[in-house]
Amino acid sequence: MSVTDNLRQRIAADGSITFDVFMDIALYGEGGFFASGPLRSAATGDFLTSPEVSPWFGKTIGRFLASHGGVATLVEVGAGSGSLLETLLPELSGSVDTWAVEASPMARDSLADMLDPGRVVAGLGELPERLSGAIVANELIDNLPVALAVRRGSGWVEHAVAASGDGFEFVEIPVRAEVATWADHHGGEVPEGGIVEVQLAAAAWLEAAMDRLERGVILLIDYGGTAEELEPRRQQGTLRTYRGHHLGPDPLHEPGQTDITVDVNFSALVAVAESRGATAALRRQDDFLAEWGLRDAVREMKQRELEAARAGDTMTQLEIRTERIAAETLLHPRGLGDFRVLSILA
Ligand SMILES: C[S@@+](CC[C@H](N)C(=O)[O-])C[C@H]1O[C@@H](n2cnc3c(N)ncnc32)[C@H](O)[C@@H]1O
Repeated sequence: MSVTDNLRQRIAADGSITFDVFMDIALYGEGGFFASGPLRSAATGDFLTSPEVSPWFGKTIGRFLASHGGVATLVEVGAGSGSLLETLLPELSGSVDTWAVEASPMARDSLADMLDPGRVVAGLGELPERLSGAIVANELIDNLPVALAVRRGSGWVEHAVAASGDGFEFVEIPVRAEVATWADHHGGEVPEGGIVEVQLAAAAWLEAAMDRLERGVILLIDYGGTAEELEPRRQQGTLRTYRGHHLGPDPLHEPGQTDITVDVNFSALVAVAESRGATAALRRQDDFLAEWGLRDAVREMKQRELEAARAGDTMTQLEIRTERIAAETLLHPRGLGDFRVLSILA
C-alpha cells in the first residue's frame, strides 16, 4: 500500500488523524521516507549530517566518551550509514560491545556490513535490558513524530490532518490533555495562532533509553535549542521538510517523499533527564567539539598544510586542506556549530 493510501484509509476510518500519526506513517510506515528508497543520510541522499561531513566528528565524540572510562557497551540509535560508529570506535580502548539501532531497513543492511548483524536492530526494545556504557544519537530526535498545538486565547487547539480532494489539509480539533500539558510546560511564550511542536515521542524515547542505561552517558546531538531560544520561531513553528539537500514542500504534500523534521526542544529533554535524577549538560556543537580538542586538531592541520606547501608537496597540501575545511564545517557558528549537544550522565 502506498503512504498516501495508508493515510487516506486511516483518515476515512477516523475523520482526521493527529499530526504525530501522520508524521509516523509518512516517515516510517509502509513506503515511508525512511522505510523506502536509498540511504537518506549520505552525500547522495537527502541531507548531509556531521559524521558524513567529516571523520573528526566521530573522532572528537570518541575522545569525549573515552574520558568517561571504559565503554563496555556502545549503542548508536538512528545510526544511518554507520559513519559515526566507524570514526568513533577507534578512539575507544578495550573490547566494546557495539550495537546499532535503526528504523530504516536500508540503513540496517548497510550497518550489517560493518557490525555483527545480530547487533543491528530495529528498536530500543531489542537491546539488552540493562547496559553500561554509552548511547549516542545524531539527528535522531528531530525525526521523531510530533503533535501540533496551536495557541487559542489562553489555551490550545490541535492541528490534525484530514483529506482534501486528492491531498491533505490541516483541520483544528480539540487538544488532547497530554498535548496541552506538554505545550504549557515547554512551549514558552507563544503568540495567538503560534505553533508548538509537542515532542512527547522524544520524551518517551529518552525515558526508554534511560531505562536501559544502568551506568554511563547518553549523548544527543541535533538542531534546536532551549524552550526560550525557540520562542522567536513560535509564530510559524519549526516544522519543515528536506529533500535532495534542500528545504522541501509543505509537510502535507508528497508524504513519503520528503524528510519531515522539527527543531528539538532541549529544555523538555533536560526536564526528563533531571526528573530521573540524572545530570544533564547542554552545549553548542562548536563549543563541545572545541572543548574536546577539535580546534587544536584544526590548528595542527593548518601547520602541516603550511609545512607541505613549504616542501612543495602540493598533493599532501591539498589533502590536508580538504580534511581541515571539512573539520571547520563542523564548527561553523551559523551551521553545524549551532547544533546542540546534550549529555546525560546516568
Ligand atoms: C537524519 S538521519 C541521521 C542518520 C545518522 N545518525 C547521521 O547522523 O548521519 C535519522 C535516522 O534515524 C533513524 N530513525 C528514526 N527514528 C528512529 C527510531 N525510533 N529508532 C531508530 N532509528 C530511527 C532514521 O531511519 C534515520 O536513519
